Amino acid sequence: MYSLTCFTIAAILSAAGVSARNSTSECAKGLKMFVSRGTNEPMGAGETGKVVKVISEQIDGSDYEAIRYPASFENPNYFLSVGNGTRLLKETITEYARACPDSKMAVFGYSQGAQITSNNFCGQPPIWSPYSGIDVTDIHGLVEFAKPLPKEVTKNVVAVVLFGDTTHRKDASYNRGNSTGSGIYWRADISACEGLGNRIRSYCDAGDPFCDVNMEPKGNPHLEYVYHYGNEVVEYVIEQYKSGSSNSSGTNVGSPSSPTHAPIQISGANGILSVPVSAIAIVLLVSSMM
Ligand SMILES: *[C@@H]1O[C@H](CO)[C@@H](O)[C@H](O)[C@H]1NC(C)=O
Ligand SMILES: *[C@@H]1O[C@H](CO)[C@@H](O)[C@H](O)[C@H]1NC(C)=O
Ligand SMILES: *[C@@H]1O[C@H](CO)[C@@H](O)[C@H](O)[C@H]1NC(C)=O
Ligand SMILES: *[C@@H]1O[C@H](CO)[C@@H](O)[C@H](O)[C@H]1NC(C)=O
Repeated sequence: MYSLTCFTIAAILSAAGVSARNSTSECAKGLKMFVSRGTNEPMGAGETGKVVKVISEQIDGSDYEAIRYPASFENPNYFLSVGNGTRLLKETITEYARACPDSKMAVFGYSQGAQITSNNFCGQPPIWSPYSGIDVTDIHGLVEFAKPLPKEVTKNVVAVVLFGDTTHRKDASYNRGNSTGSGIYWRADISACEGLGNRIRSYCDAGDPFCDVNMEPKGNPHLEYVYHYGNEVVEYVIEQYKSGSSNSSGTNVGSPSSPTHAPIQISGANGILSVPVSAIAIVLLVSSMM
């Protein structure tokens, strides 16, 4: 059994060592992970890459893929970026599930990346569908696109991990962290995500201006999820991997390699995700009009 006591030795994992891999064509024998970075993080897995890198070292035959969406606030604008990413993630997971029906998956998202991830697992209002390029006159298409991924696609997803989700709902049963409010785009319908049971966790700390708008912004909680919860998430995902998926037949459970890994440390809350306050105000304004 894994326990946090296994996770010793302080060492800082270099963010620079983390890069996206093109492995959609290959089925992972261990765990396949998909990662969506936050706004303005450079292309790749971002901060969350530190977590998936440790997991990929702990479970034999695992790898991860970063979703190559804009993750921008402008150029393209936030809505188009979310639309792009939501669609790309949907296509990527759907394609992988079809090509690799026996492979287990875990899906991670941070900030804007958490929104595109939860869009896929909880569904989203069809009013967002045009941002993914769905024809506005195609009502059926708008509604279909907005639905959560179907069970045949998600059945082998063992964990969904959200950090600082803009669509966070304060009353979700799968919440982690100490926030008390909901996010700037709080989600009206979380029933599909509730249906995932312990296969989903949403981390949101008090005062995060993106996932907890009820609190006065305080400190930089939005930048500290990996620092505070990285090891907990590693442990959670490995447990989920070992205990199976929605139909836990017990197949395809690999043995994690030797449990020597370092605590995950943040490189410093120095503005990897430096969204200016004015930008936050614009997002709040637009969100209040929707
Ligand atoms: C990924 O690999 C596949 C198969 O080798 C290839 O067809 C595809 O173009 C590659 N994609 C990228 C983004 O490199
Ligand atoms: C989505 O974003 C990626 C990365 O910025 C870009 O290469 C791609 O063309 C975009 N797709 C659409 C449909 O806009
Ligand atoms: C919430 O949790 C974070 C992470 O453990 C901690 O840094 C912060 O002080 C806590 N905030 C409150 C209001 O308890
Ligand atoms: C899930 O259940 C189906 C039907 O019983 C089975 O064919 C499939 O192999 C199972 N998949 C996993 C990963 O256990």
